[in-house]
Amino acid sequence: MKFFIDTANVEAIRKAHERGMVDGVTTNPTLVAKEGRDFRQIVEEIASFVEGPISLEVVSEDAEGMIEEARELNGWIDNAAIKIPMTWEGLKAVRVLASEDIKTNVTLCFSANQALLAAKAGATFVSPFIGRLDDVGHTGMQLIADVVQIYANYGYDTEVIVASIRHPIHVYEAALLGADIATIPPAVLDKMVNHPLTDVGIKRFLADWERVKKKS
Ligand code: E4P
Repeated sequence: MKFFIDTANVEAIRKAHERGMVDGVTTNPTLVAKEGRDFRQIVEEIASFVEGPISLEVVSEDAEGMIEEARELNGWIDNAAIKIPMTWEGLKAVRVLASEDIKTNVTLCFSANQALLAAKAGATFVSPFIGRLDDVGHTGMQLIADVVQIYANYGYDTEVIVASIRHPIHVYEAALLGADIATIPPAVLDKMVNHPLTDVGIKRFLADWERVKKKS
């Protein structure tokens, strides 16, 4: 399973990268706005040490505008994936960008039919948002199960990025379902290593080792 880091915070990405856990990065306008810095500068800093795809989102609403923005963003770095919203205009843009070998990530996907359309349009990635579905009383992870199954039924190459992850159980369930990628907020990645029995076990081993040392 590939891990993307879901943030535009360069230091958080660097920390996860030093831990060997960064196969790519996803950003969105909200995450970039949080940083209060120049977008291009952030993107170039991330690309200076991340080799995998870095998702950068367009903000146009018509296909022509999205395509123009996508070409521009794609020129900034060698490993861009252009995030395109899940609309008919977006799907038109995805088709054109696919023909130009520009990687796309269809974002704001909330249904299996939307994911099917994204694959048919030739998207490189699709991002079903599970946390936001959970927030409104749906079972976000069921969408991942459906999309993984549908893509397998027809052999689509589009990779599933489990997005809008809120806690470690989301990552665990996505992995069980065979999703290609989880895009994980840094705080969730931090929590994934924790287990109270690990802490207790380390403490006990160290205490017992002190007794061994005293005897030698
Ligand atoms: C990633 O590609 C998405 O933009 C992100 O996971 C959305 O997460 P949120 O629902 O927590 O804003």
